[in-house]
Order: sequence, then C-alpha cells, then structure tokens
Amino acid sequence: MRRLQGTFDLLPQDSARWVWLESRIRAVMARYSFGEIRVPIMEPTELFQKGTGETTDIVQKEMYTLTDRGNRSLTLRPEGTPSVVRAYLEENLGAQRPLWKLFYIGPMFRAERPQKGRYRQFHQYGAEMIGAASPSADVEIITLCRDILLDLGIDDARLILNSIGSAEARAAYNANLRQFLIRPEIASGLCEDCRRRTQTNPLRVFDCKKEGCGRLLRDAPTIDAHLTGEDRQHFEFVTQSLAGLGIACEIDLRMVRGLDYYTRTTFEFKTTRLGAQDALCGGGRYDGLVEVLGGPPTPAVGFAAGMERILATLENCGRSGPAPDRLDVFVCAIGDRARSVLGATLGALRGLGLSADTDFQGRGLKAQMKEAGRAGARVALIFGDDELARGQMSLRHMDEARQVEISADTSTWNRGLFERTA
Ligand code: HAM
Repeated sequence: MRRLQGTFDLLPQDSARWVWLESRIRAVMARYSFGEIRVPIMEPTELFQKGTGETTDIVQKEMYTLTDRGNRSLTLRPEGTPSVVRAYLEENLGAQRPLWKLFYIGPMFRAERPQKGRYRQFHQYGAEMIGAASPSADVEIITLCRDILLDLGIDDARLILNSIGSAEARAAYNANLRQFLIRPEIASGLCEDCRRRTQTNPLRVFDCKKEGCGRLLRDAPTIDAHLTGEDRQHFEFVTQSLAGLGIACEIDLRMVRGLDYYTRTTFEFKTTRLGAQDALCGGGRYDGLVEVLGGPPTPAVGFAAGMERILATLENCGRSGPAPDRLDVFVCAIGDRARSVLGATLGALRGLGLSADTDFQGRGLKAQMKEAGRAGARVALIFGDDELARGQMSLRHMDEARQVEISADTSTWNRGLFERTA
C-alpha cells in the first residue's frame, strides 16, 4: 500500500521543523494580537461553492468532494477563509465585538496535478480580520504577512499588489473585458476554459496558465480604469502607508487571484527561490463574503501562506530551522539486577524533567553506547550489577568523554547532576 499522490509522511526529523515553524508563527500572531481558531477540515460542499466561488478553478476542478452515509455532500477544505467566516457567523461573533482577529494553521486539500511546491494535501497558516473596513487593516495584514517571513529569515520575497475594486467597479470591468474576449481574433485563440470563463466570469481568464491565452490577454483592458473614487482612495492609502513603512511593492494590474470573494486590495508575496510555484502567501480584502454566506454586510481582509513552500524557501537559503532536540540521558543497564531497576531509573530522570531513553533490546554495552551516540545523548548513565551492589552508577559526559561516579540512590539526584558540564 502506498500513500496517495501529492501527500506526505512527516517523520520525527521533519516534524521537528514543522513544530518550530508553527511556534514562530504563533509567536508573531500573538505580537499582533490574533487569536487562534480551529475549524473542521471537512465542511458542507455548499460552503466552498458559495464562498470560494462557483466559477473558480478550485471549485470547478480541485475539490475533494464525497457523499457521506447520510447522503450529504462534504468537501475537504481547499482553503480556510470560508470556514472561518462560517464559524464567525455560526458562533455569532459579530454580536460580541465588532472586530475579530483570527488565525489558523492546518492542512488544506486541492486535487491539483502534483509538482514541486504543489501538493494535494498541503498546509497553510492564515489570518483573517473580520469587521475591519479601514485600509489600515489591509496594511496591518500585509505587514503581519511580511513580518512572519522576516522572522523566519525570508527577507527577499517580493510583494505584488493590486486593487480589483468594489463589486460595482468589477461589474463594469467584467462587461468591458467580455467585449474584448468575444472579439473573433481573441475568442478563436482562447482555450475552452477561457471561452467558458468569458461567459461565466471574465475576470477568471487571468487565472489561465496556458501560454496561448497569456499572449492573447496581453492587450486585455485592466481594472484600474474602472475603479471608483472610493476604491482609488482606499488603494492609495494602502500604497502610501506601505511606502511610509519602507515596504516596497510592485503593482500588477493583472493579479486577480484565483478566488471569487476578493474586493479591492489583493496581494501576494513571491520568491525567486522556488521555480514555477513561486507564491509564498496570498490574500486580500473580501468585503462581500460574510453577506454571501448569510450574514450582515461585514468588511474583512486576510491572507494565507503555504507552509511547504516556506520550508522549501528556508532550506534554499540554508536556514532549515533549529538543530533537533538532544536527548538528556541515555541509560545503559548491563546485567539482570541492573535491568530490574531500569524502569525506576528512567522514571526518576523523567521526574526531574529530563528526557531519558534506554535500549529495549537487551544488547551489550558497546551497542548501547552506539545507540546513545545516535540519539545525540548529552550523558550516558551506565551501571552493571557490581556497581549497583556498591550503590554507584557511572555518568559519562558524551561530548567530553569524561566519566564520573554518582550515587545510585535516586532520591539524592537533581537536574544539575546530569546537566553539569565541568
Ligand atoms: P491561495 O492563494 O489559494 O489563498 O493560497 C495561499 C497559499 O497557499 C499560496 O500562496 C501557496 O503558498 C499555498 N498553496 C496553495 N495551493 C497549494 C498547493 N496545492 N500546494 C502547496 N501550497 C499551496 C487562499 O487560500 C486564501 N484563503 C487566502 C486568504 C485568506 N485570502 C483572504 N484570507
């Protein structure tokens, strides 16, 4: 039996990096005063159809949808934002306070063609500010997204920014874009997906990865001409604030992002260190989503980042996280009497808050010392039947190849006895 394509096993040496990454994320989220929300990984399919959007690639081609025994259609979440908004409404959070700052870390599922940096089960951390209309919230989200990257040591990601306007601006733009797309010289060269997008949601043509479509879209109209005065003011506040904070950005008028809920600000952080799948994080404002999911009009803004891509980027810059934790004490018991006190010895060490391990295979001293070295033990506690009879044990400091005798009476032990290096 093999694991499913595009999924991974994380072995202890890998999961230590993940735990480290998660702790760094949580620390920065705490500095920004975001609280963690944990939502189910499966949701009613309708949540993503409505939330992520019927015309998106995610909903049309990439969802893991199944029918449960009660004949309900469930979907493994392809992203976190609709779930967070569902929870916000279901838990009636808006009635408790006007602004919620929430973050999440967890697996997402998309049935994409697996390649480097693109998986079917992948992990995101993300943050959502629900109830925030001010463009300063957009700046806060972008700054948070960037600060996590910086905290991890990624200082060369490029920030790409756009405004896709309010719903009003986008309706006008979509009509204009459709006029362009139905021109015979354009329509005849578009792929089948883009011809469908022309009818259902013209903006989505910019999600197309096909080179032929990309070439034809080079002369397509852009959104900027359709932005309302308020859209413009909002965007100007964002760009000027970023400039004031010394955060460089590039404007890309064709960056519409692959999700239907965005309004006004959209952004991505990209890296040159990963090849084709170069987006580390993406996000933006989504002022209509709470209403689409049945709530009152509520502005919101957020982002999510791909954790596999973050770790691959770190590896690429030679920063692969902290060294794995070392074992404090490896216990080597030789002989029957010695082995009979093994459990009590391990218990005493762990009771002092030390990590302790032993050989469970009844092997000789040489094999046990080799195992102690493999486990990276700081000290080895060695005793045989004779030493025990004298009430003694040997403590070997592995890095210094220095050995001392200690009392075998565990009630006299303290942590310092096993930590002392000199
Ligand atoms: P997204 O751009 O679809 O946005 O995903 C965010 C990040 O998840 C991407 O930049 C990428 O790093 C990672 N990612 C996406 N798909 C895959 C995959 N198949 N394999 C590996 N990594 C992947 C969202 O999901 C929105 N919910 C972001 C958001 C939050 N907008 C507002 N609030």
